[in-house]
Amino acid sequence: MAKEKKVFVCANCGYQSSSYLGKCPQCNSWGTIEEKILSSSASTTKKTILQTTTPQPISKIQYSESHRLDVKDTELNRVLGGGLVTGSVVLIGGEPGIGKSTLLLQIALNCNDKKVLYVSGEESLEQIKLRQMRMQISSENCFVLASTDVDSVINTAKELQPQMIIIDSIQTMTTQEVDSFAGSITQVRTCGDKLIDCAKQNNIPILLVGHITKEGSLAGPKILEHMVDTVLQFEGDKNYGYRILRSIKNRFGSTNELGIYEMTSFGLTCVDNPSKVLLSQREEQLSGVSICAALEGRRTLLIETQALVSPTYYSSPQRISNGFDIRRLNMLLAVLEKKAGVKVSNKDVFLNIAGGLKVNDTSMDLSVLSSIISSHQDISVNDKYCFAAEVGLSGEIRPVPYIDRRMNEAQAMGFERIFLSKYNKDNLLEKYNIKPIFIASVNDLIEELIK
Ligand code: TYD
Ligand code: MG
Repeated sequence: MAKEKKVFVCANCGYQSSSYLGKCPQCNSWGTIEEKILSSSASTTKKTILQTTTPQPISKIQYSESHRLDVKDTELNRVLGGGLVTGSVVLIGGEPGIGKSTLLLQIALNCNDKKVLYVSGEESLEQIKLRQMRMQISSENCFVLASTDVDSVINTAKELQPQMIIIDSIQTMTTQEVDSFAGSITQVRTCGDKLIDCAKQNNIPILLVGHITKEGSLAGPKILEHMVDTVLQFEGDKNYGYRILRSIKNRFGSTNELGIYEMTSFGLTCVDNPSKVLLSQREEQLSGVSICAALEGRRTLLIETQALVSPTYYSSPQRISNGFDIRRLNMLLAVLEKKAGVKVSNKDVFLNIAGGLKVNDTSMDLSVLSSIISSHQDISVNDKYCFAAEVGLSGEIRPVPYIDRRMNEAQAMGFERIFLSKYNKDNLLEKYNIKPIFIASVNDLIEELIK
């Protein structure tokens, strides 16, 4: 008879204890510890694949180039490192409504030369059909299963022998072996384990959808992220059309890759030249607008920053920022007031990054500051200028890396001048048609802008 063992598990982080606790010592949340009965048969599910009994010298290990499938989507292919590796498991996380199901159904339909099994635990067959009709892509090779039972999914996969499996989502999958609700730590972990085993044993790639918690991390145990080969994050502002697919972990490629999509009324379309799309909506010669040559992953994006500076009617001025860290905005405003004497403490400041993109590149500083100065002084920034530098606490302009890539992109998009830190002067590799303007301080920037 299988032995039973009682453990207390935190539903939030998976911490295990032998006795009941009111507060989890690992994640500090209250009332999340639940009693679990572990039967020895369930707890000893071990992966047999990938294991060897004797250690091998690394020089003797045979390596065969992994076979990659073309998923018929330039952005996803790039983010995966050149296609989907057979037998690999990819987890795609994102907020509800961001477009995970749309992306994966689209992939399933576009790969019509491969047999694809699309499993949905969230939507009915009719709902999926409706989505397919909306996308106007037809495929004879896409098989849809509405199920939440992971064991029956694996059996179906064995019979159907698909070349790709999509599971939407891992949090809805359950197995009879574990006595807890769908989405709980043990269910997610056991179902994840079974699916990974299925992928490795049959050499079928599996794409898993993962939900995101309020805090923005992938729901379910962190262990799922460790177990899978690749973790991708789908993000963007739901009010705008653009979506970014970021690689967080990739055993078969770089994590510097980035995919950019636009949500349209008939599904997601790949954005090959983001700068072109982001700049096309520009109104010329407006105050409060400037362009940054930013770098996200390996891609250069020319992004418009918009600022509005207006007198405040409140005792404490408002600072509102979309797509840019509000603390960094406050820091830049403090630098502007203290080091350049531009009084902004009695002004409301609104900042917006066009397209609803969130860019984590400090080279945005100079362009944000230029937009603020431009709105404050009510002068427009020349529409042939762009910016790429960080601003330090003493008002100094600091260099950012990969200047040549930024200059190439700005030049290709028709810009004539780029504002850089004076410390970038010595590391320009080539001669460019675009003229670099090297500045040392915020005061230099103001001088150049009002010239
Ligand atoms: P969905 O893929 O259901 O999101 P997720 O699976 O991440 O929760 O996408 C939902 C949103 O996408 C929904 O609000 C409608 C929108 N959408 C379009 O704008 N165009 C389309 O062609 C489709 C299928 C969805
Ligand atoms: Mg969905």
